[in-house]
Amino acid sequence: MDEIAYITTPLYYVNAEPHIGHAYTQIAADTLARYCRQSGKKVFFLTGTDEHGQKIQDAADARGISPREHTDEMVGKFKDLWVKLDISNDGFIRTTDEEHKETVRSLLNKLYEKGEIEKRSYTGWYCVPDERFWREKDLEEGKCPECGREVERIREDNYFFLMSAYQEKLIEYINSNPGYIKPDIRRNEVLGFLKNNRLDDLCISRPKSRLSWGIPLPFDENYVTYVWFDALINYYSATGYIAPPGVNWWPATCHLIGKDILTTHSVYWSTMLMGLGLPLPRKIFAHGWWTITGEKMSKSRGNVIAPLDLVEQWGVNAFRYFLLRQVSFGMDGNFSEEQFISRYETDLANDLGNLLSRVLSMISKYSPSYDPSRPDGFEKLSEDISGDLEELYGELRFSSVLDRIWEIVKSANVYVERSAPWNLAKSDTERLSQVLTSLYETLGCVASLIYPFMPGASAEMNRQLGIEEPGLGIRRWGDAGRFGNIKKGDPLFPKK
Ligand code: MSP
Repeated sequence: MDEIAYITTPLYYVNAEPHIGHAYTQIAADTLARYCRQSGKKVFFLTGTDEHGQKIQDAADARGISPREHTDEMVGKFKDLWVKLDISNDGFIRTTDEEHKETVRSLLNKLYEKGEIEKRSYTGWYCVPDERFWREKDLEEGKCPECGREVERIREDNYFFLMSAYQEKLIEYINSNPGYIKPDIRRNEVLGFLKNNRLDDLCISRPKSRLSWGIPLPFDENYVTYVWFDALINYYSATGYIAPPGVNWWPATCHLIGKDILTTHSVYWSTMLMGLGLPLPRKIFAHGWWTITGEKMSKSRGNVIAPLDLVEQWGVNAFRYFLLRQVSFGMDGNFSEEQFISRYETDLANDLGNLLSRVLSMISKYSPSYDPSRPDGFEKLSEDISGDLEELYGELRFSSVLDRIWEIVKSANVYVERSAPWNLAKSDTERLSQVLTSLYETLGCVASLIYPFMPGASAEMNRQLGIEEPGLGIRRWGDAGRFGNIKKGDPLFPKK
């Protein structure tokens, strides 16, 4: 990874309340951003809201208020949720920001002047909820192939970005940059699509008469720009007025997205950047989809999981842990309450929480000396994992990182049983000091290793271990130092 990291999430539509799917992208991006900071990088972590377009206008109309009032209110809900989920974003962009709108208009102008945009008459099938035109042959049983809803036949003059010209260049780019679209299954999907279909030009305008809630085209005020064209540019525009100054933040290090928005990012956004002559982001990573007991989450099914309900019951640390531990990042996952409870009880309350409280109790009870001279193998475990983190995080293999951390936690638990400090307290105080120091230092390492995933639990572990100035970096075995300040507290993950 580079010395700077610019990490983005998608901009969330503010037509509905945030749910577990939004929280997922957000927590993954946050974990990556925290790890990058921990490893000494300069980080700009950006999130925000996608506020223009038909969906938002419809949502506002349905409530009988203006789009502006609607979006202002919804943005507050997203921001509140991110605070409750311990999201450490450095910036928050709204596509209604004046600076963003200006950037969109100036980039549109640039493309127009370069001859990359053309006005044409167009007839097509339009899916209002998805805000996308489809060709006749794309339709499935006459309906939108993406969402299965009714489409409308629309004929109108519109502006087109000449995307088709970039088909070969994009294929070449993806082929020569194997790390560009990840995971590989998504890369192959995009390549397959590009090789087997003729890329169309992209309709980037909507007549104002049909939709007024958007950014007017600088070269024709009778139109507003297509919502995706506006939204994708956020990644670039934010570097001009939200990112910390003095650093060249573009191109972004990683765009984190869900697999449903892979085409818009890997095809539309990449070719837009090519048209503008701007560098492409280093990586686009598309994660999988959460279903609820095997079904798609939707309002009509009444199975939408509200993140805050889980957070209230189980705490934010467990929620973050579960989402990133349960499913390999990139794959689809199924949410079930039983699995959540089982992870909570086994991994968190038993393996980690009990270990901390047992070790701290034994240190208080037996008053061993702090003796890091003979680490008993644990220094090796934590060195090994530190060596692998860069690669695992670089590939966004969050669940593998957690597996590795839990190997340490589990071997520490086995070590407690095998070395039986309660017997050593009677027979061998030197060995007792060695064992409890090993465990104490190991917990110090674990506290720093879990930080990107569970910053709150990490801070509480540091507090109980008495590490007063924990610092941000990844702790090595032997860094926690002395027993003097231990403050045993409530269980880290109380049994429910
Ligand atoms: N506004 C666009 C993105 C523009 S980016 C320039 C958008 N917004 S969204 O609110 O519909 O979705 C945002 C993210 O939430 C997407 O990455 C999407 O994959 C994710 N999720 C929404 N529902 C999800 C699940 N059920 N499971 C996992 N993630 C899902 O698309």
